[in-house]
Amino acid sequence: MSFQIPRGTQDILPGEVEKWQYIENTARDLCSRYQYKEIRTPIFEHTELFSRGVGESTDIVQKEMYTFQDRKGRSITLRPEGTASTVRSFVEKKLYANPSQPTKLYYIGPMFRYERPQTGRFRQFVQFGIEALGSNDPAIDAEVISLAMNLYGTLGLKSLKLVINSLGDTASRTAHREALIAHFEPRINEFCSDCQNRLQQNPLRILDCKIDRDHELMSSAPSILEFLNEESKTYFEKVQQYLTANGISFEVDQNLVRGLDYYNHTAFEIMSDAKGFGAITTLCGGGRYNGLSQEIGGPETPGIGFALSIERLLSALEAEGVELPISSAIDCYIVTMGDQAKDRAVSLLYDMRNAGFKAEKDYEDKKMKAQFKAADRHNAKFVAVLGDDELEKNVIAVKNMDTGEQEEIGIDRLISYLKQNSK
Ligand code: HAM
Repeated sequence: MSFQIPRGTQDILPGEVEKWQYIENTARDLCSRYQYKEIRTPIFEHTELFSRGVGESTDIVQKEMYTFQDRKGRSITLRPEGTASTVRSFVEKKLYANPSQPTKLYYIGPMFRYERPQTGRFRQFVQFGIEALGSNDPAIDAEVISLAMNLYGTLGLKSLKLVINSLGDTASRTAHREALIAHFEPRINEFCSDCQNRLQQNPLRILDCKIDRDHELMSSAPSILEFLNEESKTYFEKVQQYLTANGISFEVDQNLVRGLDYYNHTAFEIMSDAKGFGAITTLCGGGRYNGLSQEIGGPETPGIGFALSIERLLSALEAEGVELPISSAIDCYIVTMGDQAKDRAVSLLYDMRNAGFKAEKDYEDKKMKAQFKAADRHNAKFVAVLGDDELEKNVIAVKNMDTGEQEEIGIDRLISYLKQNSK
């Protein structure tokens, strides 16, 4: 019997995993500069958290969750995203009581959605996300957006498009909602069955429909921007002002509707403009969710964040031909000849590794030539050659693979030699 990996998942193997590590380290470093602290929440939560938090009418809750009953009959769901869990933890662990506010958190971890797998769309994917809870300052909106743009920029992406919109506060949204219902209702039977359900549940989501996107009523639908009250308008203007002050260019797209229900005020997405990038161009999505904490039983707390998947980030890097500066080189490979030398190499290797060097040797009794080849494959900066003859004289031959220079040194000097000569 043979097994295959489940559809929509992937094994990340050595050779590829270094890119993931590089991206994750860059994200962690950026978070520490912006003072976001890591939070690790469980991979699964009670289903209710997502149906309430993400929203009953969303595709995620209706079609995409991995939900099962545990042995006690409780409904459990593999997390489809990180915001609901983060806010759940913020409420449950009373992080709002911490004197230092806003609470700025980030996460990197697998998320699960039962979607149709295709390029850039997986059933298990890794999101890097940040959430800032407890501040209603538009400067935080600009900060969150700038951190995402900064990550992409630091990694070398250039063809990016930032699109922002405002979904307004509750009053603005209610007025817009009514206008949308009035706009679509007379001809709703021309729309797909999902949209027919959305009309009363969440008419905003009709604007995001992939099936009906070319229907003539779509382009003439009332824009949220016409319904923003003064407060929401001023807020949105301030966010734009801060983005401009940070040198971040953006487009306002009044049709930008995010696929999750918790958003209000600022909503944004970052897309790749790169030629050759697949059909799914959204790299990152986020926005403000001021009602979410209350929705799941917590105190009234404003919040904003984003999430992006490493998978799509890697596709964008590939589409733009960006090579990450990853080195697989090791410091020293020991080539041995003879049994005594082989034994001595075991402790030399141990000493080198203890001293902080990346070092390797052969474990397959290979001939010398094959050992040199292995040193090449490891990209060794130095090759240390030890034969029984050398061992008798207590010396070792060290070859600098960059310069080709070779010298014989006392075995005891190997570590200090490497320290002196490796940069
Ligand atoms: P989202 O738009 O559902 O938002 O997902 C955010 C990002 O996750 C997407 O832009 C994409 O990079 C990635 N993503 C989503 N689904 C897949 C998939 N099937 N395969 C690969 N990548 C995927 C959220 O999840 C919100 N929690 C974001 C947020 C945080 N809003 C506020 N705070």
